[in-house]
Amino acid sequence: MEHYVVKGGNPLSGEVEIAGAKNAALAILAAAIMANEPVTVENVPDVSDIRALVGAIEQIGGGVEHPDRHTYILNGATIVDGPVDNEAVRRIRGSYYLIGSLLGKYRKAEVALPGGCNIGLRPIDQHIKGFRALGASVSLASPGMVVAKAQELNGSHIYMDVVSVGATINIVMAAVMARGNTIIENAAKEPHVVDLANFLNSMGARIRGAGTDVIRIKGVERLHGTEYSIIPDQIEAGTYMYAAAATRGDVTITNVIPKHLECMTAKLIEMGCEITESDDSVRIVAARRLEHTNVKTLPYPGFPTDMQPQISVLLGLARGTSIVTESIFENRFKYTDELAKMGAAIRVEGNTAIIDGVENYTGANISAPDLRAGAALVTAALAASGYSEIYDIHFIERGYEDFPEKLRSLGACIAKVDSAEEERKAVNRFNLRVVG
Ligand code: UD1
Repeated sequence: MEHYVVKGGNPLSGEVEIAGAKNAALAILAAAIMANEPVTVENVPDVSDIRALVGAIEQIGGGVEHPDRHTYILNGATIVDGPVDNEAVRRIRGSYYLIGSLLGKYRKAEVALPGGCNIGLRPIDQHIKGFRALGASVSLASPGMVVAKAQELNGSHIYMDVVSVGATINIVMAAVMARGNTIIENAAKEPHVVDLANFLNSMGARIRGAGTDVIRIKGVERLHGTEYSIIPDQIEAGTYMYAAAATRGDVTITNVIPKHLECMTAKLIEMGCEITESDDSVRIVAARRLEHTNVKTLPYPGFPTDMQPQISVLLGLARGTSIVTESIFENRFKYTDELAKMGAAIRVEGNTAIIDGVENYTGANISAPDLRAGAALVTAALAASGYSEIYDIHFIERGYEDFPEKLRSLGACIAKVDSAEEERKAVNRFNLRVVG
């Protein structure tokens, strides 16, 4: 079975380049089919979630060209009416963006219910509320299909009951070609909401206020082709920053927007790391043992839930006791059992983890329970003494491009292996201190 084998203990050092943001790319590729002209999207990360979404677009007749690893040219002119459903679509959360884009463009969408990581109940009531406010009827048809339809869509004033990235993006897409004006209050402010709005505006949409909690949209008749480059992935960047800190390394993260990383860099500074920012890079130096701190996940610009497992791994090695509160998802501490196998002292009570820092982790055989926790457990293995094997790495591959390769370029001993023989060879290379 495919897994990673890791020999821990090497401080990471060097430079690593960050890919385009997966979550922005999922929204933008779904929105790209709203034009009947070619739309070129660059800086798309090469990860399995993206391949699944593009596969769904191809399945409904969308034109898909893939001229290089990080560029797609999509054309919505050839889309045919029909359900969006296949095994890959049901696995990824981002497929729900096709509800907003197809409803917005064709006034009809039939899409399999979202999957994604198992981090708790993930309702879509706010998405549905928004579609209904615009005049659509929405029903849940079996087996697991969302069907949204409208004679016409009319602008509306929508108050979101919870701050939801997915619902904000979906409602924006459904509203850009509705008749009249739409106002979304209590909107999500995440960088990828802004990126989606900038992208749609480059196609002729009229969206203002993205990045604040009130988004205003004037409906337009049609959208046209464009060329657009996706923003860097703040969570991938944060993961490497925290891996650098966990291994007491010295790493420069390039191709980032430092502003998007502020909530994560602030915590690293509190813990005792040195951070140097330039226009598009951030350097992290962790010269000594980290200090404890407390953290609560919140919507942007608060600390992201997608970095909660990574910071818990760090705090597990920090001096003193830390408290981590998860306020976005109710079931996001499943990885703590795996981390405990490596020697972490973590107690979970409801949505809070109480972490007593230990001096060291030790290598163990562990499984990735979901995408971000999987990446976090790899960073724990990199910091640990001895060997680890990490299974269920398909979760990690959903969102991290070239994860083992990039870590190796920073001096980590990590290899993806598929047999005992491959594992033996990798371990030999590690022991000879040949990286790769
Ligand atoms: C997106 C990201 C995910 C990230 C999350 C929070 C994608 C594909 N995924 O997920 O990586 O962890 O934002 O930053 O971009 N909620 C409702 N009703 C709804 C929708 C959401 O109650 O209709 C709740 C959720 O249960 C959760 C909270 O709102 O408690 C935030 O969820 P949301 O921002 O919607 O997350 P996703 O868009 O699913």
